[in-house]
Amino acid sequence: MKFLVLNGVNLNLTGKRERGVYGNESWENIEGEIAAFARERGHEADFRQSNLEGEICTILQEADGKYDGVILNAGAYTHYSIAIRDAIAAIATPVVEVHMSNVQAREEFRKHSVLTGVCRGEILGFGKNSYILALESFLL
Ligand code: DQA
Repeated sequence: MKFLVLNGVNLNLTGKRERGVYGNESWENIEGEIAAFARERGHEADFRQSNLEGEICTILQEADGKYDGVILNAGAYTHYSIAIRDAIAAIATPVVEVHMSNVQAREEFRKHSVLTGVCRGEILGFGKNSYILALESFLL
């Protein structure tokens, strides 16, 4: 199977920003681990990141039919982007929402996701392993 790991706004700063929340490991390292996890199981993962809401929608539209699943960490857009929600709803390819931090244990404004309702499921709070668990969910 082929998967797209799609990171949204500020996720390119992983390893540099708020290390107490998101850890010290760079996104490049994490990406390598996810790619290896997929490869060792006979699957393939592509990676994209954008800080732009509309671009994330375009990437989702273009992913439709090309991938067996999308693993999406939309960052802060999670909490208010109706445009990203609509893009997920518009495509047939299933999307699993992920968060590295446990957003339920953080500020009130992070507790609500406008995306979850149109995603296959949501995985949160396991750091970089949230991505691995999301990928695994497609292999069950
Ligand atoms: C995040 C949680 C969001 O609330 C935040 O805006 C992020 C990262 C996470 O992975 O824990 O940028 O999606």
